[in-house]
Amino acid sequence: MGFAEAFVMAVAYVFPTYVANGAPVVFVKIIERSTPLDRGAVAWDGRRVLGDGKTVEGLLSALVSGFLTGVLLILAGNPGGFRTPLEPLTLSAGTMLGDLAGSFFKRRIGLERGKSAPILDQLGFLLTALLLAYLIHGVPRWFRFDVLLCLLALTGGLHVTTNALAYILKLKDKPY
Ligand code: CTP
Ligand code: MG
Repeated sequence: MGFAEAFVMAVAYVFPTYVANGAPVVFVKIIERSTPLDRGAVAWDGRRVLGDGKTVEGLLSALVSGFLTGVLLILAGNPGGFRTPLEPLTLSAGTMLGDLAGSFFKRRIGLERGKSAPILDQLGFLLTALLLAYLIHGVPRWFRFDVLLCLLALTGGLHVTTNALAYILKLKDKPY
């Protein structure tokens, strides 16, 4: 597969991860209620296990919206080359796994909720999503190293832009 074709397929493939990553910000804002996943619990270091930024409602909205995005993509001709509708669900679950692990790690190094952790915030979710999807569904059809590198660059850029936009739209308190 040529670079351009593979890159387009890769973007369609990871599109559910973008939706899953962004959905909680909007959904939690709309429903105006949230239940912290860690229920306020603190870890051995006296800091919150995950913090108030990781909620049950946010997690569920990510899984549902990411899965539905994948189903719509499949109905629209499957540009991402999913082998089963479960693949976008796996990608969404991997996205949340990375997001939660990221917050867990941030709390352990003493970063409070909402503080930025460069690279981890922008790319952690995508890398865990791709890793989990690889373990469960195998190497995706678009896979090439140059495509993966460009995908990481695009995702980093998109993350910075969309978070700044969410800040301007008052969906987020911080521009990152
Ligand atoms: N969010 C949520 N549940 C999740 C993930 C995100 O409710 N599982 C919502 C929260 O309102 C959160 C916002 O989306 O504040 C932005 O997500 P994120 O940047 O991942 O969280 P932060 O608030 O920055 O917290 P952390 O420092 O733990 O990353
Ligand atoms: Mg954040």
